[in-house]
Formats: sequence, structure tokens, C-alpha cells
Amino acid sequence: MPATASRLSVFTESVIRGTTRMATQYGAVNLSQGFPDFDPPQELLTALAAAARGSNHQYAVTYGAANFREALAAKISRFTGLNVNAETELVVTCGSTEAMMVAMMTACNPGDKVIVFSPFYENYAADAILSGAIPIYVPLHAPTFDFDPDELARAFAQKPKAIVICNPGNPTGKVFTRAELLTILRLAEAHDAFVITDEPYEHIVYAPHEHVYFSTLPGAFERTITCNSLSKTYSITGWRLGYCHGAPHVIAQARKVHDFLTVGAAAPLQDAAIAGLELPDSYYTGLTELYTKKRELFLGYLQQIGLPYTEPQGAYYVMVDIASLGFTTDTEASEWLIKDIGVAGVAGSSFFRESVQNFIRFHFAKRDETLHAAGERLLRLRSGR
Ligand SMILES: Cc1ncc(COP(=O)(O)O)c(C=O)c1O
Repeated sequence: MPATASRLSVFTESVIRGTTRMATQYGAVNLSQGFPDFDPPQELLTALAAAARGSNHQYAVTYGAANFREALAAKISRFTGLNVNAETELVVTCGSTEAMMVAMMTACNPGDKVIVFSPFYENYAADAILSGAIPIYVPLHAPTFDFDPDELARAFAQKPKAIVICNPGNPTGKVFTRAELLTILRLAEAHDAFVITDEPYEHIVYAPHEHVYFSTLPGAFERTITCNSLSKTYSITGWRLGYCHGAPHVIAQARKVHDFLTVGAAAPLQDAAIAGLELPDSYYTGLTELYTKKRELFLGYLQQIGLPYTEPQGAYYVMVDIASLGFTTDTEASEWLIKDIGVAGVAGSSFFRESVQNFIRFHFAKRDETLHAAGERLLRLRSGR
């Protein structure tokens, strides 16, 4: 029998998605894979029903339907202050997941190096490897998950073609400061590297932290490929809508990659999602308030339990230090939490390059009842295992 491609032996199936399957199998409250258990805004559901009754059920323009790109450009311009050109600067993708793969394949030749901060959202290393690139890792140091500029400079000295930034960060909850982003930009300029930035949690940032769009830093736009998504902002992870935004000569190439990967994102869903892009500013303030309350609710339980955690500055994940529970591996801990406690979280090692076994990542994008149910079960941890 022929052997399958050797590059596939370098990474496993997604641990996050695997944990979700196990949570379902054991009936655990699922705080592993980051998706809400509440409805998207009513405006989107109404628009979806209208789209279903409409006539737009065939392929959209591969790089995004014109009306969707127009609405997207207007929305991005509103929040970034950039003057986004819908004709030349956007390619609509199947979520940020595809956007990241497109960005990586657009930026890198086989054998190119790509800097990835560790811990990282697990897709990034797989994206790099699948596109023939070689990830090089720079640690984000717990518990603050900051990087050491000297370590980053040493990684840049290896002449990478690109660096990946996740901001706000999954799994860390880190929101990069303007000063940190400028440090990255200076190094990317000095070594002529692309910056691939993944920003699906742009609107989920907790005061006093603020989201800085990398592409808006002075001189950054030409070398930045911004990957983003409607999944988290509008609670529509199943709609699979995202995009790459960048300079026209880069996007022209990215469109080719995207076309041959997926042809395009679902036409009726692009139609319906325009209703989300057109929501007023108050929607986004409401979203931040909603998640600020959920963060408070869930962290309240963690405080009662007494396990150390890193307070998220953005996104909706929290890394909990489970060292005191005394498991040999975090995978064992995660399985025990699912089977014995009834709550699913992701084994933190799946996000790290280094051998780190003391974190479980929980997310709190759930209805308050769900968070209370999980919290009540987790309170059993007060007395250890
Ligand atoms: C940082 C990050 N990027 C990308 C994704 C995937 O997003 P999408 O649903 O747009 O593919 C996620 C999902 O959890 C994420 O956390």
C-alpha cells in the first residue's frame, strides 16, 4: 500500500475538536471548543431566513460576493480608520481557519521559516507545515504570556519569511500592547518579513486593554496580511465566514490560493451576514459588556476553587494552572475532568511547543446557566482530586 504524505506525521488531529467529541460522548459541560451556546443576533437570523427564500444558492464570486465585500470593507474601515478597498484588498474565506492557510501559502515558499509564538492556536503550526513552511517558536512566558524581545530578535535572525500573531490571543487571552506590536513591526521591517495577524476576537477586549489593529501601525499595511472572521463577533461559528485583508498585490495572489482551496464561502450566508456587518456600534459595546460579565462569572468560580489562572485581557479563554491536582499529564487531567467532574477543557499542552503539562484551557462563551452548571461541578476541585 502507498504511504500517506510524511508531513502529516508531524502533527495530530485537533485536540480541541477531539475534546469536544469526548465531551459529547460523556455528557460533560463543554468549555473546550470556543463556540457560544446562545443565538446569534436576531437580525442575522431574520436575514438568514430571507436568504433561504431568495434565489442566491449558487457559487458566489470566488473571492467574495460584491455586496458582502462592500459591507465588510465599510465595517473594517469603521473600526480601523483605514480606507478599505472592497475591490482589491479583500478575499472572503471559509472562516479565519481558511484565511490563515491562504495567508501562509501566499507568503511562504516551501522551506521558508515562520515565527509562531508558543503557546499558539493549534492551527498555526499545521498551517505552516501543510504549506511547506517550517515553524520556529518564540515562547510567551507564563503567567503574563509576554515575549522577550531578545528571544524574538534571535528568531528573526534566522531570516523567517513571516511571523504569526494572534491578537487578542487564544489560548492566552493576551492583548498585545501598541509598544509590543511596534517591536514586532520594527523586526519584521528589518528582516523584510510578512506579518500574518489573526484577529477574530478584535471586539472581545476587556478594559483597560485595547485592541490595536496591526495593519494600522505606521508603515505596517504593505507587509501585513490580516486574517479575521465573523465567527466570534456575531456568534456564527458554523457559518464559516472570514477574510484576508491586505495590500492589493498580496491579495491578488491570495485570491488564487483561496480559489483552488475552496472556491468560495457559502453564497446565501454571505448575503445574510451583511445584516451583522451593518449592526450599529452599540452592538459591539454590548458584546464587550456581555463577555465582561461572563468573564467575571466564570473567574468567580475559579477564585472559589483556588487554582491559579491568568486573567484574560481579551478573547474568551482562560488558562488554569492544574499543577496542584497532581496529574502526570494534562491529557490525563482533561479526561478526568470530563469523566469524573463533568466539565470539558482543553489540555494546554496542545498549544505549546515546549513540554508544558500544567494548564487546562476553559472558555466562557456560554449562557450564564451553562457557566453556572460548569462552575458548580468544578467547585469539587476545592478539595483536590
Ligand atoms: C485565534 C483563532 N483563529 C481562528 C479561529 C477559527 O475561526 P473561524 O471559525 O473563523 O475559522 C479560532 C477559533 O477558535 C481562533 O480562536
